[in-house]
Amino acid sequence: MSSQGQFRKITTQTFMIMKQKGIRISALTAYDFITAKLIDNAGVELILVGDSLSNVFQGNSTTLPVTMDEMIYHTKAVAKGVQRAMIITDMPFMSYQPGADEAFRNAGRIMKETPSGGVKLEGGKNVADAIHKITSAGIPVMGHVGLTPQSIHQFGSYRERGTTEEEAAEILNDAKIVEEAGAFCIVLEKIPAKLGQTISKQLKIPTIGIGAGMYCDGQILVTPDMLGLNKDFQPRFVRHYADLTNEIENAVRKYTEDVKNSKFPTEQESY
Ligand code: KIV
Repeated sequence: MSSQGQFRKITTQTFMIMKQKGIRISALTAYDFITAKLIDNAGVELILVGDSLSNVFQGNSTTLPVTMDEMIYHTKAVAKGVQRAMIITDMPFMSYQPGADEAFRNAGRIMKETPSGGVKLEGGKNVADAIHKITSAGIPVMGHVGLTPQSIHQFGSYRERGTTEEEAAEILNDAKIVEEAGAFCIVLEKIPAKLGQTISKQLKIPTIGIGAGMYCDGQILVTPDMLGLNKDFQPRFVRHYADLTNEIENAVRKYTEDVKNSKFPTEQESY
C-alpha cells in the first residue's frame, strides 16, 4: 500500500509512526496555492513554506531579507491548496534569534494568523530555549542543523558542514539538543551521509535530509530546484525530476509565435 493510502491527514504523530515503521518521509517546499495543491495531490507528507522563498520567489541572494508578514502571506496561500500534508512555516531571520520570548510571540503569530501545522527554525544549543518555549505552548517545531542558510555570513560559504570531527560532533550534539528541547523532526542540511546516518540512528524523531545522504528518515528539496526551474543552482544534492525551464520556455515561444502569426485565438477560442 502506498503511504498516501495508509495515512490520511498527516500530523506529528504520523511522522513518529513513519520513523518507527521505517517508512520514508517525502517533503517539498511550496510558496503558492497552485504548487501546494499539485504537490499535496501527488502525495508528499510535509510541505514547508521555506524562507528559501527569499531566493526562488523574491530573487534575493540569501534567505535573510524575508519578513514575518511575507511568511504569513505565503503560508495562507499554500494552505488553501493543501488537504493532506502537514504544513510547516519557516521562521524568518530575526524572528527568533533575539530570544525565546520573541520566538514564542512570532511562532504564536504564525499559528494564529495561518492554518500552519507548526514552525521551523535553524540552530541547536543557541535556540534550545526558544524550541522549548514554543513546544510547551503546543506548537510543533521542526529543527534544522548542519548548513543553516540564515548563518551564511558567519559561515562565509554554502559548503557542506560537518566534514571535520569537531564540526560533526557539534552538529550531532545540536541535533540531540533540538530533540530534547521538544522538536518533532529535524532537517539535516548539507552534511556527510555518514553523519546523517549517525544522527538518524541516535535520534527518536525523524530526520529530513537535504544533501545529507540516503540514511535520513525523509528527504526534502526546494520544489523549483527539483522541477528544473532554477537551472542556475546545480548543487550535487539536487536531482531534476522535470525540466520545466524548457517546457515553459517552449510553451511561451509557441504562444508568442501564434499571437504574432494571428494563430491564437481561433474562432473556437472566441466569443
Ligand atoms: O527554506 C527552505 O526551503 C529550507 C529547506 C531547504 C529545508 O529550509
